[in-house]
Amino acid sequence: MNMNITGKTKVLGIIGHPVAHSLSPLMQNAALKALGLDYIYVPFAVEPQNLTVAVKGLRALGIHGFNVTIPHKTAIIPLLDRVSPEAELSGAVNTVCREDGLLVGYNTDGIGFIKSLVDDLGFNPDGATVLILGAGGAARGAVAALCGAGVTKIVVANRTRDKGEALVDTFRGRYSHVKFALSSQETGELHEHLREANLIVNTTSVGMNGSSFAGLDVDAFLPDAKVYDMVYSPPETPLLVAARGRNLSCANGLGMLAAQGETAFSLWTGTDPPCGLMKLKLSTAIDV
Ligand code: ATR
Repeated sequence: MNMNITGKTKVLGIIGHPVAHSLSPLMQNAALKALGLDYIYVPFAVEPQNLTVAVKGLRALGIHGFNVTIPHKTAIIPLLDRVSPEAELSGAVNTVCREDGLLVGYNTDGIGFIKSLVDDLGFNPDGATVLILGAGGAARGAVAALCGAGVTKIVVANRTRDKGEALVDTFRGRYSHVKFALSSQETGELHEHLREANLIVNTTSVGMNGSSFAGLDVDAFLPDAKVYDMVYSPPETPLLVAARGRNLSCANGLGMLAAQGETAFSLWTGTDPPCGLMKLKLSTAIDV
């Protein structure tokens, strides 16, 4: 961490609620320090009812850039001056940059997700069929990124069907070359779709605290299917344990967390962080 703070030190941060558990300060400050950059990255706990005034404050204080996490990723959009096409499509902003005095929103989660699929699973989305569990903000980001990366088909399996349908409707109109299907999370219907999925992605919080999907039977996965769980704590969710039991390639969301942070770092500083440092810091923090 930069302990030599002066009037020239640029301030970065993260807003969320809660935010005390966030590992972003650890990995961002480690990368800033490693490169000797005169920045500091600080967590700010912002309650939902204070978001508008907090963003005004961040503007007034001249904060150089910041990350946005739960529950503000969607609510912040109307408070910004501009958002990138990816952020608009996924309906979520996780990174804000100050550009010529304006606050510009980006979504680096999608880029981080695709990078992690390639780096951690050796998975090329081009031409693939992907089954997405969930239909919230994380699912939207993943679907936007996968559509941009050339998938052939996306099946959305959400607990609440209406929400899955709304997601599919949004993307169907934008990506005519991608086939979309909806599934329940009940065993029978889900099994039909699992028979063709090259990649299964959990975008929900299921798996934290040892929970699992009752209707998801890993024996129905293709023998060469790959499994990505965005949950990273615990590092091995019941879904990943079961998939590994079938010798399937698996990855948790740690790589995505590191990769979204790397992209945000590059946007703010104009410099790439040291290769692998953020992931190393995260792995060390989560293993203890
Ligand atoms: P995020 O931004 O992290 O995606 P979100 O927008 O609140 O958060 O979405 C949470 C997603 O996790 C939803 O798809 C939710 O399903 P519902 O639409 O049915 O609420 C899903 N989810 C959360 N808890 C779940 C559970 N116990 N079982 C199945 N799905 C769950």
